[in-house]
Amino acid sequence: MSKGNADLLIIHASELVPCAGALTGICGAELERLDVIQDGALAISDGRILAVGPSEDVTRSWQAPRTIDAHGRLVSPGFVDPHSHLLFGGSRHVDYESKITQRQSGKGLAGGIGFTARATRETSDTELTRRALADLDAMLTHGTTTLEAKTGYGVSCREELRLLRLTAGLRHTVDIVPTFLALHVLPEDYVGRRQTWIEEITMALPGAARIARYCDVSCDPACFTFDECLQVGEAARALGMSIRVHADQTGDANGAALAARLAASAADHLDYARPSGLQAMASSGTVATLLPGVTLHLCELTPGVRGGTLGAAEKPFMPMLARSAIDAGAVVALSTDYNPGSCPTVSMQMVMQLAARLFRLSYAEIWNMCTLNAARALDLAEDRGSLEPGKRADVLLWAVPEHGMVINRFGSNFVDTVVAGGQVVVEAGRVVRGETAKGVVQCS
Ligand code: NIG
Ligand code: FE
Repeated sequence: MSKGNADLLIIHASELVPCAGALTGICGAELERLDVIQDGALAISDGRILAVGPSEDVTRSWQAPRTIDAHGRLVSPGFVDPHSHLLFGGSRHVDYESKITQRQSGKGLAGGIGFTARATRETSDTELTRRALADLDAMLTHGTTTLEAKTGYGVSCREELRLLRLTAGLRHTVDIVPTFLALHVLPEDYVGRRQTWIEEITMALPGAARIARYCDVSCDPACFTFDECLQVGEAARALGMSIRVHADQTGDANGAALAARLAASAADHLDYARPSGLQAMASSGTVATLLPGVTLHLCELTPGVRGGTLGAAEKPFMPMLARSAIDAGAVVALSTDYNPGSCPTVSMQMVMQLAARLFRLSYAEIWNMCTLNAARALDLAEDRGSLEPGKRADVLLWAVPEHGMVINRFGSNFVDTVVAGGQVVVEAGRVVRGETAKGVVQCS
């Protein structure tokens, strides 16, 4: 039998984890299933996966001009990171020390976002773009091949649209899905005039809809109410946008139910979500995206220090929240929420490691939540998120041989090689397709 022609073969992986499952997302007991192919292989052509299986089978059927020997290496799908705020100016590291020591009262959610919005306003298009491309290089070397990137530090119609245009203009190997975060926090000059802000941001939606697939709203006691988010969410839907929700992060605002009502693609955070809201999300097919990096960075599971004495942690116990989302039948994903305030990490490996320790999820659950379910959170599960024939060839080769080691050995970056759209873009931990990675920026 003659062999088929591929562009690239990856063979002899010590473990190959396809992370395959239902395109609607992996949920319930299925999350515990993670197929592992020993001595696994992939054939790739035209940026797509042709075949996956044991090396013996793949090499019997396919030949290619280039073969990568993955002996001693784990091979997995590239990560999909479905929640980030990529573009922002300044840094919040000084405020962070005040927050953790409680030497001064921290800025709080709205104050912190306002601080970053001012710094962002003072940062030029060129500088915001330079910073974003550097962050994207770091994400890529940590294994992220698809990233949702939302605005949110504009906090004025004009600035949010500037950030959206800059996001959509980024040219980088990481595939970027732009989101317009319409309702983040109330701008200071709209205090007492909330409805005016809702009306003005609604008027900005047609411009945003030409660039962004998604509109995001923050349904939270510190941000916007159920009714305000419903008003903006329905206007966005009428323009053909799909919805994402920051839900119930600092308290119960019935955000999970709002996300279900708007048939949102995903609702994220969910710390204070009601069980009925999680059930409604399971029924509407809204992905529950959990953000353990936020839990860590905001010290939400550790006691606080007040006046030199330790006080009890005041947040819900996240392992129980995560378990109740799974038990409700929701599709659960994981993400960084990369931003300067609540989670300044670019690393999905860090998120995996924290999901095990802080949320008590199993290795299989975590791998499924960072790959196929994360792709489902961006409505991309038919195209990526798992290693299956026909899907985009986004593949990671690891410096460790087994998938559990990535989660157990915390604090290091174990990604060695990244293949994005069938091209080797990271080798030995370094970006090699520099011209693509540096990119060309159009921000008209
Ligand atoms: O964690 N409601 C949104 N909260 C943001 C906080 C960002 C910040 O503190 O700057 C989030 O996604
Ligand atoms: Fe966020």
